[in-house]
Amino acid sequence: MGKADFLRELLIDNNNYFAPYYSKNFGSAYLNDSLDILKNIRDDCVNLILTSPPFALTRKKEYGNKSADEYVEWFLEFAKEFRRILVEDGSLVIDLGGAYLPGRPVRSIYQFELLVRMCKELKFNLAQEFYHYNPARLPAPAEWVNVKRIRVKDSVNVVWWL
Ligand SMILES: C[S@@+](CC[C@H](N)C(=O)[O-])C[C@H]1O[C@@H](n2cnc3c(N)ncnc32)[C@H](O)[C@@H]1O
Repeated sequence: MGKADFLRELLIDNNNYFAPYYSKNFGSAYLNDSLDILKNIRDDCVNLILTSPPFALTRKKEYGNKSADEYVEWFLEFAKEFRRILVEDGSLVIDLGGAYLPGRPVRSIYQFELLVRMCKELKFNLAQEFYHYNPARLPAPAEWVNVKRIRVKDSVNVVWWL
């Protein structure tokens, strides 16, 4: 066991062991489906979950992205586990990028739908909202931002602290 294999102490059943992919004195990285790991963690034992999950992008990345209309249901499966494993005063921080609806210069509101459902259905509380500003991002979608020039470049992710 690596010095920083803290996950082992958090598991419901020690036989369901996840080997660290990489370990240092102050932490380990695990290369697994995170939902699988989450389901094996005990209730009320985690102080902070910080995640930048796949966004609901129209143009999918290699690792796969849910479309905006399926995103919230997909993410709620993770969120239920987050709720279960977090201690009472624990924090969940989610970084989410925006997306356009397919073929239209109209923004998806999936990040806001997710926030509302997590607060109303899973009883998360919004501690504070932040905006991650990254002006170096490429202008996209090219059709709306560069060619027709009817939208400005999107440089902001929402960061929900729950
Ligand atoms: C939006 S990216 C975040 C990238 C990161 N924030 C960065 O800037 O490098 C989402 C990441 O989640 C990973 N991922 C997707 N589904 C996953 C899952 N079920 N379990 C663990 N990782 C997952 C993807 O492989 C990808 O690296």
